Amino acid sequence: MKRCPVCGSAVEPVVPLGRMPLANGFLRQEDFPSEYFFQLTLGFCEGCAMVQLVENVPREKMFHAEYPFFTASSTRMAEHFRAWAEQVARERLSAPRSFVVEIGSNDGTLLQVFATAGISHLGVEPSANVAAVAQSKGVNTVCRFFDEKAARDIVREHSEADAVLAANCFCHIQDLHTLAAGLQVLLKPKGVVIFEDPYLGDIIERVAYDQIYDEHAYYFSLASVTHWLSRHGFEIVDVQPQATHGGSMRYVVARCGELNATSQVDVQRRKETTLGLHSPETYRQLNVNVRRSRDELIELLQRLKRHATRVVGYAATSKSTTVLNYCRISTDLLEFISDTTPIKHGRFSPGMHIPVRSHKEFQAPYPDYALLFAWNHADEIIEKERAFCQAGGQWITYVPRVEVLDYATS
Ligand code: TMP
Ligand code: ZN
Repeated sequence: MKRCPVCGSAVEPVVPLGRMPLANGFLRQEDFPSEYFFQLTLGFCEGCAMVQLVENVPREKMFHAEYPFFTASSTRMAEHFRAWAEQVARERLSAPRSFVVEIGSNDGTLLQVFATAGISHLGVEPSANVAAVAQSKGVNTVCRFFDEKAARDIVREHSEADAVLAANCFCHIQDLHTLAAGLQVLLKPKGVVIFEDPYLGDIIERVAYDQIYDEHAYYFSLASVTHWLSRHGFEIVDVQPQATHGGSMRYVVARCGELNATSQVDVQRRKETTLGLHSPETYRQLNVNVRRSRDELIELLQRLKRHATRVVGYAATSKSTTVLNYCRISTDLLEFISDTTPIKHGRFSPGMHIPVRSHKEFQAPYPDYALLFAWNHADEIIEKERAFCQAGGQWITYVPRVEVLDYATS
């Protein structure tokens, strides 16, 4: 039985998703025999409401010099980060010699805005290849994992930070107490930590079970984040729902007593009670919904196969690994997956070993159906792929429900 790393209570396994490879472990054929697997199970801690993985994968297996995800691969996400950075610069970094740190800075998409504005900044990024891309854009980046030692080094070599930012990063950090201890060291007395991650309430409401994978050690709610951070002298002073990643939450954190909390914090707290995020029953129902989603997707793909239609996957996302392996979808149902990231081309999807090909092959010729694994970028993708629908192609999604989208005539 797993004990919750935040509060020490027993973690109840609630959604078992089976034997799973690394979500971003896109591999070559010669590496099939040594592929790494673990048991992917979502767990719920009734003690502090923290939803988390029951089994964790060692971090070096996930974040390394061949990390295949680049923030800049989505133009909408790049716009989202630009708007956020401009707001932070305006509201928090107007004083001379202000200093901002981003944890998990990836290819520097967010920090680049500060770099261009001449604001002192530093990214902390453990995956060497993406860190190198950031450095090549003139974004100051250190390649390492963030912890208390890293925080001390940053304070010694630069200064304490006015703002510490993190996007889709904290939920990847297994040792939350070490993370919070690092934030204590790094933050100025009146500084703020602002972080955003996929929001548990949206995952449950939309049955977005593909958000569950090795890298996402935690599935945060306001309740669980409050419990965790209050143990380290921090409080949440604002929450701002975001549309990104199918529903995220941005949390603004300050040292206890330093800033007044907005009324949104109470509003969100009440919403979470209504959503039942504290109740084990909610997670049992989620498991029922996840199984139903799987059954419906398999049935749809098998039906399409019987009609001899061509179905390909669109975007070899980390999320797709959970869906493909949980539903046991292989090349008999899905011909290949098209993706824009060169490092993934010629490789195979983790576990089910579906070939990943360049976007060119998506167009030549178009398939009958495309299973949209990047459903969180649906607007952006459907708009730029209008020619696919004009050629008679149809999109399949599975979030919030399994369906063929009706865009053919638009
Ligand atoms: P992620 O969901 O794991 O963050 O990865 C997104 C993947 O989707 C990444 O490999 C790039 C790919 N992608 C496309 O192939 N086409 C697109 O239009 C978009 C937005 C993403
Ligand atoms: Zn707990």
